[in-house]
Amino acid sequence: MGKKVVLVTGGAGYIGSHACKALQGAGYLPVAYDNLVYGHRWAVRWGPLEVGDIADRARLDAVIARYAPSAVMHFAAYAYVGESVADPGKYYRNNVAGTLTLLEAMRDHGMARLIFSSTCATYGVPQTYPIPEAHPQHPVNPYGASKLMIERMLRDFDLAHGLRSIALRYFNAAGADPDGEIGEVHDPETHLIPLVLDAAAGRRPQVTVFGDDYDTPDGTCVRDYIHVTDLAQAHVLALQALESGAQSTAYNLGNGRGFSVREVITHAEAVTGREVPVTLGPRRCGDPPRLVGDASRAVRELGWRPHQAELTRILETAWAWHGRAQRERLLRDLSA
Ligand SMILES: NC(=O)c1ccc[n+]([C@@H]2O[C@H](COP(=O)([O-])OP(=O)(O)OC[C@H]3O[C@@H](n4cnc5c(N)ncnc54)[C@H](O)[C@@H]3O)[C@@H](O)[C@H]2O)c1
Repeated sequence: MGKKVVLVTGGAGYIGSHACKALQGAGYLPVAYDNLVYGHRWAVRWGPLEVGDIADRARLDAVIARYAPSAVMHFAAYAYVGESVADPGKYYRNNVAGTLTLLEAMRDHGMARLIFSSTCATYGVPQTYPIPEAHPQHPVNPYGASKLMIERMLRDFDLAHGLRSIALRYFNAAGADPDGEIGEVHDPETHLIPLVLDAAAGRRPQVTVFGDDYDTPDGTCVRDYIHVTDLAQAHVLALQALESGAQSTAYNLGNGRGFSVREVITHAEAVTGREVPVTLGPRRCGDPPRLVGDASRAVRELGWRPHQAELTRILETAWAWHGRAQRERLLRDLSA
């Protein structure tokens, strides 16, 4: 019997490409479906790439008919919080309307399993720490709202059509494939760790700390960092749970430990052996002071075991990827 095929929307992106590697390692054939707006051809290495947009129903139909996937992992989305505040229509159209087209295509092809990239941004400003899945969801920006709307659509498609889904609410994805084959390349980059490593490498003059007067131990924002490989593994486990008959649900994915911006910088200086120049900027609108997740349900119910939970390990893999010639070449091409 051939391998089971998984359609991976956004499979040429950062987390999607790591999921493709994990799927291949678990015996699946990942088919990356990506419009390459932010994705990279070189990151698709563990199965075919089908260039297409999730909003393009005819293209989706053709790809689903060609490969007959047994499930979808859905990473394709826009994910810049600030941009979503300035241009909400772009986010509702791509994330919400695009996902609706995908779900209708799945429904019409009789597909019944989906793993969805949700986010801690659906919680808004948390009232308790660490945040459990049952915490109220009141997103404070259109990006988080778009993801919450999709969670709602997933519930409705399950009730009406039996489409089973697991929404994985990630905290801050970071780090790179420990084999050095793929890693994080966002353009523009807004994530703290690559920005800090860029400053350590002298590729940026400094890193800006947005606000140092929050109600946190050192005044800077606290976040929960999760290694992208651990994240990818959780997707495979969630898929296997659906295959074993699990009901639709949502899980947090984080390490349950918060690090402040200043702590990340100090750890990065230790890992790289270099100084990270810092400048202080104003608070950014909609940045909660502290986001730390309780992922104990994923551990208990999916059997998830993070293997790269230490911040130092996350930074080491990110730094190793940072220095690779392939990434250097890519950044040059992007800025050309
Ligand atoms: N990076 C994080 O820390 C984080 C945290 C929480 C949730 N997420 C979610 O995880 C997912 C992946 O994030 P990432 O950091 O890998 O981002 P990314 O930009 O690297 O990957 C997203 C991919 O989706 C593709 N894409 C976007 N719109 C598309 C469309 N309409 N049709 C087809 N392809 C499309 C892009 O080209 C890109 O390759 C996103 O849904 C994001 O919201 C990320």
